[in-house]
Amino acid sequence: MSAVPDLGAGLSVTRRGFLALSAAGLAAATGCAGGGGRPSATPGGLSLQPGPVILDVAGHEVPTWGYGTVPGPEIRLRAGDTLRVRLHNGLPEDTTVHWHGLAPPNGMDGVPDVTQRPVPPGGTFRYEFRTPVAGSFMYHSHVGMQLDRGLYGPLIVEPRDEPLAYDREYTLMLDDWADGLDDGGDHTDHGGLPPEAAVDGDPTTAVSFGGRTYPLLLVNGRPPEDPPVMEGRPGDRLRLRVMNIAADTGFRFAVAGHRLTVTHTDGMPVEPVTVDALRLGMGERYDVLLHLDQRDGAWQVGVAPEGRPGWGRAVLRYAGSPASSSPPVTAWPTELDGRPATYGDLLAVEPPELPAGAPDRVFDLTLQRTEISGQSYPDADPLTVAEGEWVRVTMRNTSAKWHPMHLHGHHFQVLTPSGRGPVKDTVTVPARGGAVTFDFLATNPGDWLFHCHNHHHMTDGMVRLVRYTSP
Ligand code: C2O
Ligand code: CU
Repeated sequence: MSAVPDLGAGLSVTRRGFLALSAAGLAAATGCAGGGGRPSATPGGLSLQPGPVILDVAGHEVPTWGYGTVPGPEIRLRAGDTLRVRLHNGLPEDTTVHWHGLAPPNGMDGVPDVTQRPVPPGGTFRYEFRTPVAGSFMYHSHVGMQLDRGLYGPLIVEPRDEPLAYDREYTLMLDDWADGLDDGGDHTDHGGLPPEAAVDGDPTTAVSFGGRTYPLLLVNGRPPEDPPVMEGRPGDRLRLRVMNIAADTGFRFAVAGHRLTVTHTDGMPVEPVTVDALRLGMGERYDVLLHLDQRDGAWQVGVAPEGRPGWGRAVLRYAGSPASSSPPVTAWPTELDGRPATYGDLLAVEPPELPAGAPDRVFDLTLQRTEISGQSYPDADPLTVAEGEWVRVTMRNTSAKWHPMHLHGHHFQVLTPSGRGPVKDTVTVPARGGAVTFDFLATNPGDWLFHCHNHHHMTDGMVRLVRYTSP
């Protein structure tokens, strides 16, 4: 397991450099003093300490909670490694850590009162499990709305043999932010929003993932006035790991002057497909390759919330371009209006091996308001499965919000017309009659959460348990 420092411009690793340099050497080489942004190594692994932190939002000091920094330190392993993390709770309330997208044994999943007792203030808990599957994942608190305060970070599992060729990689965590902004600071004035970012006037067509007020959008904890900067040389290929960790906001994502080649969704490989933009529900991730086929310049990386005002961004700067050159804060990449990748575009490279015939177990669920088939967790029936079964889940969404539904402990395959839909752990079900079906193999016994990754909807009860019957 390696601890990789935050390089300031977000979480960046030079592939060859990462392999060649120790974390300390890399930190020195980039002028990053270390400390914040790195999980502290202990003899038995890494230590994560959730606690109060001050987030610097373009010069405004916002008191909040985090794992030392917001986002928390990157955790990076190799497929087949064992993740060892000691959680030491520095918060004034209970907490846990959930490893979003990983499929650990049930007791390591970090869901309070379901898979473990919550860790009290001052308490500790040791997470330890193998991570056989490579991909772009996240970790976050699974207690109440703690994620929304900043208790999240990226978790990368590298394959033993990287099949992709690229020169550098960056992780971009997209977040919505409301906390601590009522301190008199004027955080909401971004010099005028791009008109396209305004709420769609027609409520019957607007894409909306949530309804709360989030005045600020952050990329790697940074507001549009102080964006993370990604760098590369002409001809380079960058790998971006784009992750939506927001509580209440779906995003569109695009890079001005460049197209995106999608290689993974939710960490799982897909046949490469080149698109203008991405759409990410909360909890979803996309890996894309970006070919730096312009000659120079600084290019806007646009992060547009769906169906609500606001704006987030990063900057892509070609080496040699003046550090002062930066697109106007609100410049809108036309690529954002292009076609985003759809699930139908994506073909799984490693689909699950489903047996011949029909599923053993079928669940037909309705998403309505923040209920699942008229029930609100914890007053809700578990979805009972048996080990070894092929399980099919269909969700029909009759509500006005788009719901990104996340299943713990498993990867599922989304049914698409190609018959080779992508393998994911979070899938967005469109509003007003939208439907999504997925299949999975029940190979990881335990009680697993299945819920909307809008954390307000989740805490309102938009949750079911997937429960394995004991043999
Ligand atoms: Cu990312 Cu149950 O969560
Ligand atoms: Cu929802």
